[in-house]
Amino acid sequence: MAVYEVKHPLIQHKLGLMRKVDLSTKQFRELASEVARLLTYEATKDLETETITVSGWAGPVSVQQIKGKKITVVPILRAGLGMMNGVLDMIPSARVSVVGLYRNEETLEPVAYYEKLATGMEERTALIIDPMLATGGSLLATIEMLKKAGCQRIKGLFLVAVPAGIERIVAAHPDVDIYVASIDERLNERGYILPGLGDAGDKIFGTK
Ligand code: PRP
Ligand code: URA
Repeated sequence: MAVYEVKHPLIQHKLGLMRKVDLSTKQFRELASEVARLLTYEATKDLETETITVSGWAGPVSVQQIKGKKITVVPILRAGLGMMNGVLDMIPSARVSVVGLYRNEETLEPVAYYEKLATGMEERTALIIDPMLATGGSLLATIEMLKKAGCQRIKGLFLVAVPAGIERIVAAHPDVDIYVASIDERLNERGYILPGLGDAGDKIFGTK
């Protein structure tokens, strides 16, 4: 497993804007999509390509195309939807596998309420998307669903995570790669990331 904190200046700049308390829903949404796009670029760097020949303006030309193209994007409802368009901008033909989970506010344990996975999960690389990796409970539950469906290659893309949540995933699923714009300091007593972004779902959906 590898954990990548993606220090690209565009990502860091956009994440910095997202931390402002007075951002509008529209601005937060736009930035979440933009950072998701950049994280996707990073997380797909190791996709295999193959050489094919196409007819170019001056005759046959060798070009690269992505081999297999079997990718499924896995947004964790609901906040994960805020990153989905950004990812699909980069991988328009990806299948979408939706997982519904919310955290019980008292126990912080994830509660599953929806699961609709793409077909042929055994052959697909899954890109889980969620703005926040806090205790890691939601990610653990999602990885377990995907592995139960036969998925063998899993990556997670997050805007913000904390070390304890990442360590929990590393211990349980050392084969899963994590791409995150920022590894923040810690969780507060209510399980929110500090300095974090606040409640990502409320900000993306404008429900606060
Ligand atoms: C948030 C976030 C993650 C989860 C992270 O979702 O989007 O899914 O919390 O926390 P964890 O690592 O401790 O599990 P939330 O439960 O607030 O639901 P929502 O997306 O429906 O708002
Ligand atoms: N979920 C959020 O939306 N924000 C946090 O800081 C932690 C979990």
